[in-house]
Amino acid sequence: MRISVIGCGYLGAVHAACMAKLGHEVVGIDVDKRKVAELSAARAPFYEPGLEELLSEVQETGRLSFTTDMAAARGSAIHFVCVGTPQKKGENAADLTYVDAAITALIPYLAAGDVVVGKSTVPVGTASRLSELVQSEEPDAHLVWNPEFLREGHAVSDTLHPDRFVYGVQDASEDHPAVALLDEVYAVSLSSGTPRLVMDHPTAELVKTAANSFLATKISFINAMAELCEAAGADVTRLADAIGMDDRIGRKFLNAGIGFGGGCLPKDIRAFMARAGELGADQALTFLREVDAINMRRRTRVVELARELCGGSLLGKRITVLGAAFKPESDDVRDSPALSIAAQLQLQGAVVTVTDPKALDNAARRFPELHYETSSEAAVENADALLLLTEWQEYRDLDPYELSNAVSFPRILDGRNVLDAAKWRAAGWTYRGLGRP
Ligand code: UDX
Repeated sequence: MRISVIGCGYLGAVHAACMAKLGHEVVGIDVDKRKVAELSAARAPFYEPGLEELLSEVQETGRLSFTTDMAAARGSAIHFVCVGTPQKKGENAADLTYVDAAITALIPYLAAGDVVVGKSTVPVGTASRLSELVQSEEPDAHLVWNPEFLREGHAVSDTLHPDRFVYGVQDASEDHPAVALLDEVYAVSLSSGTPRLVMDHPTAELVKTAANSFLATKISFINAMAELCEAAGADVTRLADAIGMDDRIGRKFLNAGIGFGGGCLPKDIRAFMARAGELGADQALTFLREVDAINMRRRTRVVELARELCGGSLLGKRITVLGAAFKPESDDVRDSPALSIAAQLQLQGAVVTVTDPKALDNAARRFPELHYETSSEAAVENADALLLLTEWQEYRDLDPYELSNAVSFPRILDGRNVLDAAKWRAAGWTYRGLGRP
């Protein structure tokens, strides 16, 4: 099929490459010339494992191209809208400027029978509004909401092998003409047994925000337990192992630590609360305010623990932060708890050095006042304390015996609870985890 993908950021670039991999002829359209030039040269504008290889592979087939010209959408049967919905400045609500602009720019190129497929995370009610807009200009085109659940760091496999497909169509009917067309797009995945659910527009939009809210709640739940464990002298990692063995609870997303960040969970739960307020259902989501508060409290707690670890004062202490990205296998620093902690420590008088295998350029753009060091060996030299804040494999694999020769004081705060505390203590380190004795 001929497919256009509008918006070639994280979601769109991966989606375009994966659709070409599935055998479709794909044009990716973005207003950012630099992004289009990079992608056209098969270079990913961000770090995502496997994406560059995939871009090269599919571009060689001639099935994938990129352009800034929206007219290239003409002739595609399906138009995926993958633009961002960031948090509005100074407000909790989502900023729909880019979604609205993309659809408005696309409309002149739509033909009868075309399907516009929204993938961005939007406030409930957006799809029905946009559907009316599309049909007012092209009555025989359709708009489907087909949320995307990909995780950064696993974006390619999550797109090619998702847990499920959700199609939000106007009448929630399996017989809606857009359903057959989307089935054709995803034929390869569907034939391998991926479930597909057809529902109405608002339910499909809510599936995405509800899923992200659940994940955020799960993380904040275990972080609240970590606070309790600290007060009671218990170990949250053992607690998570034990409660996670109950199938109904599950062990995934029960890792206590410095909390969640990134371009999705924090802004999505805030936008969800804002939308609930507009709908007069704000009470239903007041718990998300607590989820957000617990999450933000982790950052303050880590700064306090770092102070304790440094003997009661941060002034002039050389602190090395291992990890800047909001999670490993990503160079994304949007709302990264690691960087926000590093900046706080610096504000409170510590001399902070940050290292990360991939995210330093992005980190330096966001917090130019921090000191960055590409080599982790150089970063740890003469440190008064180490803070492991993003659990890259190379930090998990650090050898406490070797490392103790490089630092000034063998003290480590394991912000992700991924190190073997007994091993580090045996090597002479003062080890602190979060929610662990
Ligand atoms: C999330 C959703 O998982 C994905 O389905 C959605 O499409 C987009 O938002 P992503 O932002 O890539 O994906 O990151 P995710 O893997 O969910 O991690 C989010 C944050 O939670 C990270 O900062 C991570 O470190 C943190 N986290 C995750 C924890 O602190 N503990 C956990 O147990 C799991």
